[in-house]
Amino acid sequence: MKVLVYGSGGRDHCLADKYGDSQHVDKVFFCPGNPGVLYTSKGHSERKLIELVNLREFEKVADFCIEQGVDLVDVGSENPLGEGLIDLLNSRGIQTVGPKQEYASLESDRAFTDDLLKRIGVPKPEYRVFDDPEKAKAYVRNIGYQVVVKANGLAAGKGAIVCDEVPDAIEAIDMIMVEKSFGDSGNKVVIEERKYGTELSFFVYLDGKHALPLRMFAQDYKPAFDTEDTESIEKFGGNLNTGGTGCYCPHKLVSPWLVNRIIKEIVNPTVNEIYNHLGWQYKGVLYFGLNLDPYENLDVFEINVRHGDPEWEVLARKLSTDLFEIGMGVWEGKLDQVKQVWNNQCYVDVIAMEGRSKASKGWNKGYPGRYGKGHKILGLDEIERGIAVYFAGVDENQEKGLVTFGGRVLHLVAGDKTLEGARKKAYRNIKRLSFVDHNNNDANCLRFRHTIGA
Ligand code: GLY
Repeated sequence: MKVLVYGSGGRDHCLADKYGDSQHVDKVFFCPGNPGVLYTSKGHSERKLIELVNLREFEKVADFCIEQGVDLVDVGSENPLGEGLIDLLNSRGIQTVGPKQEYASLESDRAFTDDLLKRIGVPKPEYRVFDDPEKAKAYVRNIGYQVVVKANGLAAGKGAIVCDEVPDAIEAIDMIMVEKSFGDSGNKVVIEERKYGTELSFFVYLDGKHALPLRMFAQDYKPAFDTEDTESIEKFGGNLNTGGTGCYCPHKLVSPWLVNRIIKEIVNPTVNEIYNHLGWQYKGVLYFGLNLDPYENLDVFEINVRHGDPEWEVLARKLSTDLFEIGMGVWEGKLDQVKQVWNNQCYVDVIAMEGRSKASKGWNKGYPGRYGKGHKILGLDEIERGIAVYFAGVDENQEKGLVTFGGRVLHLVAGDKTLEGARKKAYRNIKRLSFVDHNNNDANCLRFRHTIGA
């Protein structure tokens, strides 16, 4: 079988890798992909069955799939889903995993989803939606509790700004709605009550008829810095949210009773609404971003229409079920026949980010602020066997080989029978990597959080 994974980030690289592990699959096309895939030493095998396909135009991707006889296309990220890639591929007779454009509004229109959840009684924090910044500001001045200010549309995981004080919320509203830091995604904001507790990311595959809730969940680390890193937090004017700086699984709260509770209180009513009231034949992943507070109340922060990044990188390593069987189950409406199997390892994903580096004039603060590019990546050949490296923001340079290209550069995923063991392996190995800051005497400008899984 031939699979094409459409995407270019760490999650998408990991999807390609996981399809490559399938007993049914002999070729995986990674499109438009990233050149990191050619450098990966996953430890247990050569990844020669993954081939890069440098196509971005949807029509050309469809032409390629037909020419090559691709059996299944999995679309990893929200932007192509929101732009209708699935609709186009299906109209050309190509089998896919991922929701259609209309259904992707669950992620690209927060207000729509919040109203849906409220209507069906699924617990979520108090919220109000505004299209006028002044009205939004008046609201946050009046309510008296802390809020999260969210861009209504897509913002690469950075659109939710957690605020301590009213001036922080005013600043966030200005940034989103007036300065338009996330473009038109900031035409509306959702102001949501800030919740305290433990975050967890829960995933469900849908095939248009059935639901396959994954009985395993993960914890993402969204803040840019460790709490102890007060110097960086001060420099950045707060501990900014990122698309994720690392992840671990199993989440410390995984238990059969909590999984059942999430399915009963949150997944089932939502899936029922999608299938039976909206009448959507949703085929793909639903991602529930949840909070469990100290009183054991669950709340839904957000729904996304794809796997989490970096959550998928750890879940994929733990999942023993053949991903092609899940993917075909999604397409054929046969998820009821898929059995999920998880290995007994713990996994930790530490993300290597672009840190402070020298720019042609002055300094780059590093991700999630302005970051440098083109820094040579060293040390990949020193990574121990059995550790997975999934690439995100990388490029290939004729002279230097693999270089940095984005803020989140690569994921290093280590597994062990204990969480502490996995943490030790991940940290031992990430310290072997460096990003060479050629403008600063070849200093290492790689940065990572130290507390993932701790
Ligand atoms: N890990 C957050 C996200 O994928 O949106």
